[in-house]
Amino acid sequence: MRRFEGRVAFVTGAAAGIGRATAVRLASEGASLHLIDLAEEGLAETARLCREQGAQVAHARCDVTREAEIRANVQACVERFGRLDVLCNIAGIILLQHFDRITVDQFRKVLEVNLVGTFMLCQAALPHLLATRGAIVNTSSTSALAGLPYGSAYGTSKGGVSALTRTLAVEFGKKGLRCNAVNPGSIKTAMSGQGIMPESPDMQLMARTMSLSKPQGPEVVAAVIAMLASDDGIHINGEEIRVDGGTLA
Ligand SMILES: NC(=O)c1ccc[n+]([C@@H]2O[C@H](COP(=O)([O-])OP(=O)(O)OC[C@H]3O[C@@H](n4cnc5c(N)ncnc54)[C@H](O)[C@@H]3O)[C@@H](O)[C@H]2O)c1
Repeated sequence: MRRFEGRVAFVTGAAAGIGRATAVRLASEGASLHLIDLAEEGLAETARLCREQGAQVAHARCDVTREAEIRANVQACVERFGRLDVLCNIAGIILLQHFDRITVDQFRKVLEVNLVGTFMLCQAALPHLLATRGAIVNTSSTSALAGLPYGSAYGTSKGGVSALTRTLAVEFGKKGLRCNAVNPGSIKTAMSGQGIMPESPDMQLMARTMSLSKPQGPEVVAAVIAMLASDDGIHINGEEIRVDGGTLA
C-alpha cells in the first residue's frame, strides 16, 4: 500500500513509541515527513528508519509547549516540501498521582504538553491542511473514555484532546478537513513501562485498565493512525477509535 505517495506528514513525538512507529508506517507508504520531538537522539534514529523506507525526511528538536518553535517547524515543513497533508499529534507525557497529592504545577504541566500542545499544533497547521483538504489525527487515550485511577491530570488532558478533535471536525468538515483521534490502551512503549505508578496504588483499581489480550507494540496504533490519515478514512470525521485490545469493550 502506498496511500501517502506525494503527501507530506508532520509527526510529533516521533523519537519513540507510537510516534516513531507512525513515522515509519507513513514513510513505508510513500509519505515525506517532518518529525519533531524533544529527544534528539531518538529523533535522528527515527529519521534514519524512515529514510530506509525511501522517504524524504526533515527532523528538528521542538517542544510542543512552545508556540514559536511549533510555528517555525510548520513553516519549515511547508517551505521544504511545499505542502502539508497530514498532522499526527502524538507527543505526550503521563503522570499518575493520587488526586489529593498531585500539585497544581504537575496538573498544569500535563495539560500543557498533551492538550495545549495539540491545540497549538492544530492551529499552526490549519491553513496548510485546509489548502490540501488534509487530515489531523490526535492521540487521545482510553483514559478519556473511562476513569483512569490516579490519572486526574492525564485523563483530563486526553478528554480535552477528544473534545478538541470533535470541535475541529465540525468546525472545518465543510472545508474538507478531517480530524479524528485514536484511544490507545496497554501499548508497550517507554510510557507504559515501569515507574509510572504512584505510591501504594490500589491494584484492584488498576486491574480495570488491563487489556483482555496480551499488550501490543506501537505498530498496532500506527496502523490505525495511518488508516484515519489516508483516503481509506475519507468518510470518517470527528471519530475516535480505541486501540486497547478490548479493555473498554
Ligand atoms: N503507551 C500507551 O499505552 C498509551 C496509551 C494511551 C495513550 N498514549 C498516548 O500515545 C502518545 C505516545 O505515547 P508513547 O506510548 O509512544 O510514549 P513515549 O514516551 O514512547 O513517546 C512520547 C514521545 O513524546 C515526546 N515528548 C514528550 N514531551 C514532549 C514535548 N514537550 N515536546 C515534544 N515532544 C515531547 C517524548 O520525548 C517521546 O518521544 C502519547 O500522547 C500518549 O499519551 C499511549
